[in-house]
Amino acid sequence: MPAQPPSPTVRTSALGANSSAATGAVTGANTPAPVGIFDSGLGGLSVLRAVRAELPDEAILYVADSLYAPYGERDDDFIADRTLAIGEWLVKEGAKALVVACNTATAQSIALVREKLPIPLVGVEPGVKPAALQSKTRVAGVLATQVTLRSARFQGLLERYAADCQFLCQPGHGLVQAVERCDVGSAELRALLRDYLEPMLDAGADTLVLGCTHYPFLDAAIRDIVGDRLALIDTSVAIARQLGRVLDQHGLRAATQGAGSAPPRFYSTDDGAHQRQLAASLLHIDASVERVPIPSRRTAAPDSQAA
Ligand code: DGL
Repeated sequence: MPAQPPSPTVRTSALGANSSAATGAVTGANTPAPVGIFDSGLGGLSVLRAVRAELPDEAILYVADSLYAPYGERDDDFIADRTLAIGEWLVKEGAKALVVACNTATAQSIALVREKLPIPLVGVEPGVKPAALQSKTRVAGVLATQVTLRSARFQGLLERYAADCQFLCQPGHGLVQAVERCDVGSAELRALLRDYLEPMLDAGADTLVLGCTHYPFLDAAIRDIVGDRLALIDTSVAIARQLGRVLDQHGLRAATQGAGSAPPRFYSTDDGAHQRQLAASLLHIDASVERVPIPSRRTAAPDSQAA
């Protein structure tokens, strides 16, 4: 399992940050406060990898809501409820900024969460724009969750950038679940990917947007199927750069520490075993994962986990 995606993966495009939210919790230059990164599960670790490379002095708190993943098959209110609860929890833990490292949560709830949290937010969105800019055949595939694809935010992206480029949008059913169990290369997973990718190749696509932060961990399996016929668009580096700009705008960037920051602090709403395994095998970070309940309106009762 590779630690970094092979070329020619293209890493570009991030969603703009919240410029109106930094009203409260943490202020001041060179603050040692951490950045919060959150995903429905383990996918946000692909964003964390880029943030650590781009902003090595930043301390990081990472929350995986793995007990409730995948979000891509949840209803909109459930996703907004969980995103807000985890954002509030991270603010209480001292986070100075929040990266919603989940396309699904961003698509569904970032506007609401921005209104409610007193820290700057950075969201993610599928790299439709860079795909439209670089596709030579003018046919590009998009793999994302059902919720992301049907969201008004994603439809708006298509309206803006698909005028002269055809986008083949494929829900990646089963892919998040595979990564959540640390499966990035089984025969079943490869068969699933082949079902999704071969029609794109047959239709002449030369570009594939990885519209879910879990999918960069499938890059080797995807490469085995498509070879160099598809350029992969992964937004993680652009998100990390956007985070750096937002921290600068708000005077929140950590002081240079020379040796870099401490390892991230990992939290999970499940037992965290797979998070620890994936972080060790794909990110080479050996850190324990603390289980945290983080109740929310929709998940307040212990037996109300279903959407
Ligand atoms: N990593 C999330 C995303 O980028 C996965 C969503 C899910 O849990 O279905 O959309």
